[in-house]
Amino acid sequence: MKRQNDQKLHGIKEKFNYLRYLWELNHPKTTLASPPPLVTIEPTTLCNLKCTYCATGTMTREKRHMEIEMFESIIKKLEGQTRVIYLGDAGEPLTNPKICDFINIASEAGLYVVLFTNATRLNPKRVISILESGLNVIEFSVDSIHKETYESIRLNGRAPKVWKNVLRFLQLKKEMNSPIITRMRVVKSESNQHLIDREIKILDTLPFDEIRISNYLNNKGWEDALEYHDGRNSPNALWCIMPWKEPGFGVDGTVRCPVDFNHAYNYANIEDGSLMDAWNSPNLVKLRAAFLSGDLEQLKQVNDICWRCNCRTKYGYNNATDGLVQAILKYGIDFPDYYFGYLNFSRSPEEEASLESKYANFDESVRKFEAYAGYKVTPLKKEPRQAIPVTA
Ligand SMILES: C[S@@+](CC[C@H](N)C(=O)[O-])C[C@H]1O[C@@H](n2cnc3c(N)ncnc32)[C@H](O)[C@@H]1O
Ligand code: SF4
Ligand code: SF4
Repeated sequence: MKRQNDQKLHGIKEKFNYLRYLWELNHPKTTLASPPPLVTIEPTTLCNLKCTYCATGTMTREKRHMEIEMFESIIKKLEGQTRVIYLGDAGEPLTNPKICDFINIASEAGLYVVLFTNATRLNPKRVISILESGLNVIEFSVDSIHKETYESIRLNGRAPKVWKNVLRFLQLKKEMNSPIITRMRVVKSESNQHLIDREIKILDTLPFDEIRISNYLNNKGWEDALEYHDGRNSPNALWCIMPWKEPGFGVDGTVRCPVDFNHAYNYANIEDGSLMDAWNSPNLVKLRAAFLSGDLEQLKQVNDICWRCNCRTKYGYNNATDGLVQAILKYGIDFPDYYFGYLNFSRSPEEEASLESKYANFDESVRKFEAYAGYKVTPLKKEPRQAIPVTA
């Protein structure tokens, strides 16, 4: 098994990039000197589900996997510049048969790799390949335990199968002594909001590292943002951190905001130059200028979807980066979690102990899960598998 990347920033160059990135967030300009710390890459635009809120189902661009050569070429350009990649965006990464090779390539290049999955394709063989691939974080997107609710949101998905897959993943992870971080993601919508509090209590007893509740993004049809006011967005909300933090790479190498599934406003194509060329492309510079102008009408003229998007926040950049500054003051320069987008990539001794105690009560927690769900997610294997050492 591959050695997982450790959590510290290495070397002067990385620490310098980190500080420069923080500086540029607090003093935002249109052209940046620091590379993005985090990027999203789309291993595929194909998906086996049709979730009601997701723009993948309705988007008109080509449905296909990313070629491995394209992935390798992107990783070469990110190497030494970016530290974290999200594998996800439009599509289900596990439909790409080469996904474990993708993870391998990125991990070998020293990147932290986070995979998003709908958990429908996690058969035991796949799970073992994933656990051996060097993946740092896996995030399962399952919006409810309740069968009818889950299946009314995640169309074509089957709740008992998906939960069985997720729980088997947790079990195999333990048996293989893997340090991988596991997260649950629940998108809060009208369909599941009445169940969330109760279900979180159940999920909290299972050995996940984190459970996240996500807000709904209005990127499916770019409905008028004002109709999707969620407390963050407001008529005068004119800030978004994404153009300073995170580009997304489409299957064909197009660089754009990861929320822009249908490629309405492209910054560049990564094939045409370096990472920094794309990160300071004329279109992106223009977009940053529109955000910095403080003029919503200008933003609308430059990029209609940013005007519509409910990711925009009413908080200015100083407020948006307060957390980053506090993290440095608290943890110092070697604390990269905030830098990488508010993520945990490591466990404290207390978190490790809490996970252990949840594993100790795993069978009982699964029984309670089943009692609530009304369907079986067992049998989970009783016999321990051959443990495979985590470090090579
Ligand atoms: C687009 S999916 C791609 C990866 C994979 N297919 C999955 O479902 O995890 C990545 C994440 O975005 C979330 N997502 C998709 N559309 C969304 C929307 N309109 N609002 C909020 N989250 C959304 C999904 O629930 C999932 O957690
Ligand atoms: S959320 Fe994921 S699984 Fe659902 S349709 Fe979108 S890409 Fe597919
Ligand atoms: S406003 Fe939305 S679409 Fe525009 S950069 Fe931010 S997240 Fe992306």
